Amino acid sequence: MDNIKVEKVLRHLHDDAKKDYLRIGKGMIKSIIRPIQPADFEKVYLPITEEQGKELHKLVIENQSKNVVEFGTSFGISTIYLADAVRQTGGKVITTELIESKAKKALQNITDAGLNQYVDVRVGDAMKTLRENLEPIDFLFLDGWKDLYLPLFKMLENKFHAGTMIYADNMDMAATRLYGNYVLNNKQKYSSQFVDGGKALLTACAA
Ligand SMILES: C[S@@+](CC[C@H](N)C(=O)[O-])C[C@H]1O[C@@H](n2cnc3c(N)ncnc32)[C@H](O)[C@@H]1O
Repeated sequence: MDNIKVEKVLRHLHDDAKKDYLRIGKGMIKSIIRPIQPADFEKVYLPITEEQGKELHKLVIENQSKNVVEFGTSFGISTIYLADAVRQTGGKVITTELIESKAKKALQNITDAGLNQYVDVRVGDAMKTLRENLEPIDFLFLDGWKDLYLPLFKMLENKFHAGTMIYADNMDMAATRLYGNYVLNNKQKYSSQFVDGGKALLTACAA
């Protein structure tokens, strides 16, 4: 990252996200009486690490990805890394967030970083917001609720082309297993490797 404005916003957001453990506690208390819901994490970042952000940034630039799609904006930390990369490749990021207040805050953070012209924040369920108005995808980042990785991936598969890259975070969580099995067992179409210490799965589409 070599843009001072972007670095300043990211520093502030990563520092604030370090307090997530306090906010997660509040969300978890509600889940004692009913199943956990995305709204329980309205105030929580749950972000990628700085190292992952830099890795995503590098991958988008190396791959010269233009049409980047992100599932799970939260407050926009990962989106800022992706947007700074597409500023350099001449592309655009489409990102989507279920919770309106988070999407609003994300857009503010992206604007503070001077990157809003490179980002389309779609508010709502990714299974609806990413169903239409999508160009062929060069780079897909999966980081929303884990049980949706596979259905969303299947919905977007017809937008992939040879060279499309898919980076899926949190592959150490049980709910990502179906997605992992699907991609890893389809070796003719997808070649994958675990990255970031096994936390994420990076996949390249062959055709
Ligand atoms: C792990 S956080 C994303 C963190 C973000 N990528 C970052 O690194 O800063 C996951 C986010 O996905 C959102 N989400 C969950 N289910 C979703 C859905 N069906 N459609 C859109 N967003 C969803 C959650 O509200 C949450 O803010």
